[in-house]
Amino acid sequence: MMMFLVIILILVLSALLFQAWVSPKAMDAIPGSLGWPLFGETFSFISDFSSPAGIYSFINKRQQRYGKVFKSYALGRFTVFVTGKEAAKILLTGKDGMVSLNLFYTGKQVLGPTSLLQQTGEAHKRLRRLIAEPLSVDGLKKYFQFINTLAIDTLNQWQERTILVLEEASTFTLKVIGNMIMSLEPTSDEQEKFRSNFKVISSSFSSLPLKIPGTAFYRGIKARDRMYAMLDTIISDRRNGKSFQKDFLESLIKKHSKEGSEADHYDDDKLTDKQLKDNILTLLVAGHDTTTAALTWLIKFLEENPTVLERLREEHIEIQSNRESGSSLTWQEVNNMPYTNKVINETLRKATILPWFSRKAAQDFEIDGYKIKKGWSLNLDVVSIHHDPVVFPNPQKFDPSRFDEPIRPFSFLGFGSGQRMCPGINLAKLEISIFIHHLVCKYKWRPLEKDDSVQPTLVRMPKNKYPVIVELL
Ligand code: HEM
Repeated sequence: MMMFLVIILILVLSALLFQAWVSPKAMDAIPGSLGWPLFGETFSFISDFSSPAGIYSFINKRQQRYGKVFKSYALGRFTVFVTGKEAAKILLTGKDGMVSLNLFYTGKQVLGPTSLLQQTGEAHKRLRRLIAEPLSVDGLKKYFQFINTLAIDTLNQWQERTILVLEEASTFTLKVIGNMIMSLEPTSDEQEKFRSNFKVISSSFSSLPLKIPGTAFYRGIKARDRMYAMLDTIISDRRNGKSFQKDFLESLIKKHSKEGSEADHYDDDKLTDKQLKDNILTLLVAGHDTTTAALTWLIKFLEENPTVLERLREEHIEIQSNRESGSSLTWQEVNNMPYTNKVINETLRKATILPWFSRKAAQDFEIDGYKIKKGWSLNLDVVSIHHDPVVFPNPQKFDPSRFDEPIRPFSFLGFGSGQRMCPGINLAKLEISIFIHHLVCKYKWRPLEKDDSVQPTLVRMPKNKYPVIVELL
């Protein structure tokens, strides 16, 4: 027994010494706790992450204790949490090379080294320009009819049924992106393979970084390899002229891609196959769960706020009634939906789908009087920014009229800001506006249970997937 206690004591002392040795000394000046030796605050982090309120409860408790800036040590990372407009401005628009994105090991491994999310400075700017081009308003015009028809077909199947909105929204957005990127037909076997591989990849992001058979991370890497093999075949068919499609992949291959080794990928504005694959996966990962969550929260918030739903419906019924009978929604109409735009923004504010933006300091700088050192991890808490009562009075209320006037810079970050602002903003808004048009013009829905819990995932989504019963108006 004595021996056992001595061993425990030695282990605890070594852990304390280890933490004192590895924890950055300069962090002493920052309020907060680094928690238990070795584990830090990992257990409370995981427990709050899985709670009904999600990870925000972890941040909120510490902000009340320590203030706007505090430190923590969780999941093997020393991190400083910051919030507020000034911190957002510094982190999001700081001059090139001041911060970089801070992906977890699993994300880095799955997405690959040439992903946009792993580039900084000039390399990031160049890659972003190439990728953002087909996602511009003009670039998206050619996908309008596909998205419109898919929205109508999807909703036809909802009629008089009980459905899980999150699952349905996920299938819809994946079919859109699968078709846009590589012309996958919505009901093809290829689409099904693409969907099942993507789901495995997606769930490997918040897994433990153990690359051994049977783990979620291992399965994610294998699914990524299968997805890349599929892309290899498609890219080689396109290069050999065996097939031609007017899609995202084709525009990147034609304008910007080169056959060649990975070694020379940085020497001009062309993309290698490796860059093409890493960045197609990046768009899927960054664009899928976010758009799915936004569409689901929006449908939920509308049902909970009948006056907003009524006003939105008026906008869409008016668009519909000004149209010749028998004709469907047009590109011009979808680009002129002012109230819908405000409803989308208010959804992104209230739900704050990405609750924090993660960065790594690439040099020393200061935030709110605290010295931040090169190499430290920083998390910008966006939930607090979106619920600041000075900018958004009565912040829990769902009120799209908040967006009647322009919002002060860095107070609304639904699509981020600065160099890393979302390049998929036009696509996301297009998908949501088309879908909502057909939904509110023809259907009504009611939830089967009341539950505001969020899923323990990086993107905030309703835990119960929002079950509803749908009927014709
Ligand atoms: C409603 C849906 C969406 C929301 C709420 C959203 C939100 C965001 C936010 C907040 C950021 C910035 C994150 C940061 O600064 O750390 C971001 C970046 C990004 N988003 Fe979106 N996004 C959405 C849809 C999409 C779509 C449809 C795509 C592509 C098809 C996409 C691709 C990306 C990419 C690639 C980045 C990283 C940009 C970079 O690092 O330069 N997103 N998104």
